[in-house]
Amino acid sequence: MTRAEPEPVLVAGGTGRVGRMVVDQLLEAGVPVRALTRQPATAAFPAAVEVVRGDFTIPDSLEEGLRGVSAVFLVWTLPFAAAPAAIERMGRHARRMVFLSAPHRTPHPFFQQPNPMAKLHADIEQLITDAGMISTVIRPGMFASNALHWWASTIRSGHAIRWPYGAAETAPVDDRDVAAVAARVLADEGHAGGDYVLTGPESLSQVEQVRIIGTAIGRDIKFEELSPDEFRRETADTWPRPVLDMLLAAWDATMGHPAYITSSVSDVLGTPARTFHQWATDHASAFT
Ligand SMILES: NC(=O)c1ccc[n+]([C@@H]2O[C@H](COP(=O)([O-])OP(=O)(O)OC[C@H]3O[C@@H](n4cnc5c(N)ncnc54)[C@H](OP(=O)(O)O)[C@@H]3O)[C@@H](O)[C@H]2O)c1
Repeated sequence: MTRAEPEPVLVAGGTGRVGRMVVDQLLEAGVPVRALTRQPATAAFPAAVEVVRGDFTIPDSLEEGLRGVSAVFLVWTLPFAAAPAAIERMGRHARRMVFLSAPHRTPHPFFQQPNPMAKLHADIEQLITDAGMISTVIRPGMFASNALHWWASTIRSGHAIRWPYGAAETAPVDDRDVAAVAARVLADEGHAGGDYVLTGPESLSQVEQVRIIGTAIGRDIKFEELSPDEFRRETADTWPRPVLDMLLAAWDATMGHPAYITSSVSDVLGTPARTFHQWATDHASAFT
């Protein structure tokens, strides 16, 4: 008797910051992986990955990727408009979906600033339910890797970090832990219906985070506090306005509060969440 091939998991957003690690971790766990991308030719996945072309804005283009899958990992970075048709199409094929969302339901001031991203994520979660899929929602707080986008080039050039709300505390979660949780809940049906807020293990001010990066690279990094208006002026040409508004509101609201911390990473993985110090040490070369 031949044994049926296990159904693949479709990783949509597999070329992205989190998705790429989800692909690797699923492969390590022995789960067949299909990755969806708009540009298969340049996606550069390991040979074991089945790569399919698909675009959320063209629902018919998703058919090939969705055929025979057990579950979908979804990262949504587009405006909402294309979501209803794309997610309805996913629901015709997949029983389960793991969605990379954000902690917009968490009753902590940092997460309770009204912003367009919170509404987008909430609306997508509703579409997943309406499409009849059982969802597992993972809700990371601040990614540790934001430090790469925000600070790496300034630190490499030897300049001071000029930043607002230095005392604002967050609990950066290591992107590798986010991906590991995603891969685990994709592979294990026992997490269907789960809802996990993922944070790092400690509350750290932004000043402390910069200091930890300095320790990792063996250099003192100056932190110069800016007022929110000064920061707005300095980033006006480079930061999207909604992102800037969202972050300034969240940092302002969280002043005087320790960051919200959960044990979800260790609960799901059975290993402790990585610290920001660990993240900075492992990424030191990006800052030097
Ligand atoms: N930064 C944080 O601190 C933080 C915290 C919590 C939650 N989040 C959430 O995390 C998400 C971002 O994750 P990420 O950084 O891993 O994303 P990312 O690196 O920007 O990757 C986006 C992915 O989406 C795919 N994609 C974009 N447009 C597509 C389309 N039309 N059709 C099909 N695929 C498309 C891209 O694939 P191709 O280009 O290959 O097609 C790419 O793989 C956001 O939803 C954000 O709100 C972020």
